Amino acid sequence: MLRYLSLEMVRVTEAAAVAAARFMGRGDKEGADAAAVGAMRAEFRYVDIAGRVVIGEGEIDEAPMLYIGEQVGSGAPGAQQVDIAVDPLEGTTITAAGGANALACLAIGDRDSMLHAPDTYMAKIAAGRECKGALDLRLSATENLGRIAECKRMPVSELTVCILDRPRNAALVAEVRKAGARIRMIRDGDVSAALAAGNPASPVDVLMGIGGAPEGVLAAAALRCLDGEMQGQLRYRSDADRERAIGMGLDDPDRVFGLTDLAGGDDVIFAATGVTDGDFLKGVRFSGDGARSHSVVMRSHTGTVRYITAYHDLRRKHDFPLHNDDD
Ligand code: FBP
Repeated sequence: MLRYLSLEMVRVTEAAAVAAARFMGRGDKEGADAAAVGAMRAEFRYVDIAGRVVIGEGEIDEAPMLYIGEQVGSGAPGAQQVDIAVDPLEGTTITAAGGANALACLAIGDRDSMLHAPDTYMAKIAAGRECKGALDLRLSATENLGRIAECKRMPVSELTVCILDRPRNAALVAEVRKAGARIRMIRDGDVSAALAAGNPASPVDVLMGIGGAPEGVLAAAALRCLDGEMQGQLRYRSDADRERAIGMGLDDPDRVFGLTDLAGGDDVIFAATGVTDGDFLKGVRFSGDGARSHSVVMRSHTGTVRYITAYHDLRRKHDFPLHNDDD
């Protein structure tokens, strides 16, 4: 993977985050998402890659932009062929409500290096580098917590488990409580929770539970860069979803995927820009004619984690509209 693409990817997530941040707290999650998608897609035109979207806004018939299979980037002769996973706004509801931890994020890797996951659910378990090789989704939550506690040399009662607050995760919540661990329930945003689980300085030790499958691939890309650990197993909302997964090339749709099955290849780049303030990144701050953004970009090849604070002079940028259309 070409190193300079790291900064190019930050430009793309910055554009999406600034566009989405204009919608913070306006109660309009569709508007926020559309703004992020449009800005991300526009910014990709300037990147010298031949990119193929493998995780995107949906199938071509349901998503006009950044759909699965869409070609993005300049596509110039000799441009690097890459696969791209995008979530222009991870946390549409969070943004609409002005809550914490909304991100614009993406991952790029070599062709065929990322799981072509359908837009369904995924059971996930993710933790930091101390837990490499110790997580197993086939085991109970209690057994996994025991292993994590051992790896981290702390009692289960001191572990903090992040879980999406959904009825489908209720049995897991009950089991984790019975095992004695502490829980941080989140309303949305499990990519951010996976970043927290992979970051030794964060108060979250592990992400568990069922969330979005596309978000699972993005989380895996981030954890590859952080040298963390993760497993995922698709959980289908319907038989049609399951058929779709098989149609996308999965010979065993119930397989438990390891970290490199989800995001493999020699080198993966993950970039994210905060839309609203969060554990990992600050949100976008507007200041009259400008905006300040806070991003992270990392590469699995080197493990470098780079934080980038940028000031955007919005009077001079065509792809960062100064106002919403209705302002
Ligand atoms: P959106 O940005 O699409 O609103 O997704 C946020 C999110 O909370 C993800 O972080 C999570 O993986 C997924 O939704 C869970 O899906 P659901 O809301 O259907 O339970």
